[in-house]
Amino acid sequence: MRINKYIAHAGIASRRKAEELIRQGLVTLNGQTVVELATNVKSGDVVEVEGRPIYNEEKVYYLLNKPRGVISSVSDEKGRKTVVDLLPDVKERIYPVGRLDWDTTGLLLLTNDGDFTDEMIHPRNKINKVYLARLKGIATKENLRPLTRGVVIDGKKTQPARYNIIKVDPSKNRSVVELTIHEGRNHQVKKMFEAVGLLVDKLSRTQFGTLDLKGLQPGEARRLSKKEVSQLHNAAVTKTK
Ligand code: URA
Repeated sequence: MRINKYIAHAGIASRRKAEELIRQGLVTLNGQTVVELATNVKSGDVVEVEGRPIYNEEKVYYLLNKPRGVISSVSDEKGRKTVVDLLPDVKERIYPVGRLDWDTTGLLLLTNDGDFTDEMIHPRNKINKVYLARLKGIATKENLRPLTRGVVIDGKKTQPARYNIIKVDPSKNRSVVELTIHEGRNHQVKKMFEAVGLLVDKLSRTQFGTLDLKGLQPGEARRLSKKEVSQLHNAAVTKTK
């Protein structure tokens, strides 16, 4: 197996990130620094990343209902609570599939499968991510329409999104809108609404591909079944496996 795939299978990093680690000279094979990206790993070989041996563990997939106030990473140098801290009994080295902001709640996947992560987050695979946003201001078809064609955020146009106006409360100058996107750029939903003049003051992800949060309270997680994982693979337009 190609060494970048081996590293991704071990859940250390995506294949692309693994190539970066190799270029940085951080990967060794049987004690020798790997310089060739096309290196193959055979059974019995010892691969180390940053001096730590890696081995392929069983692939696991979890669904978390992320509460507010928790960061979407594996560890935090400031000691803040992370999403991985919410699954203390998982012994595999899982990490979040993409990110939700500190103040965003809702559906977050965690896994130790780097290829699965790539497949779920790559926009070309068009996996639906559905968000429910409470907005300051009045949402109308007219002011939301640009979202369906794409708006420019951070100098780049977003892919067309779908919206559904759930509630408008003129007395409180508030609206609730559901937004479906395929991408996962930094603060994307907040910036998309900002681009049409509406400020997000509460955000939750309610669906990811074929999954929703039924039965999970904030802070609760459960393991995905094999069937749920293959349904997610099937929802992707192109497959990495
Ligand atoms: N878009 C955002 O702005 N924040 C999130 O947490 C997720 C999507």
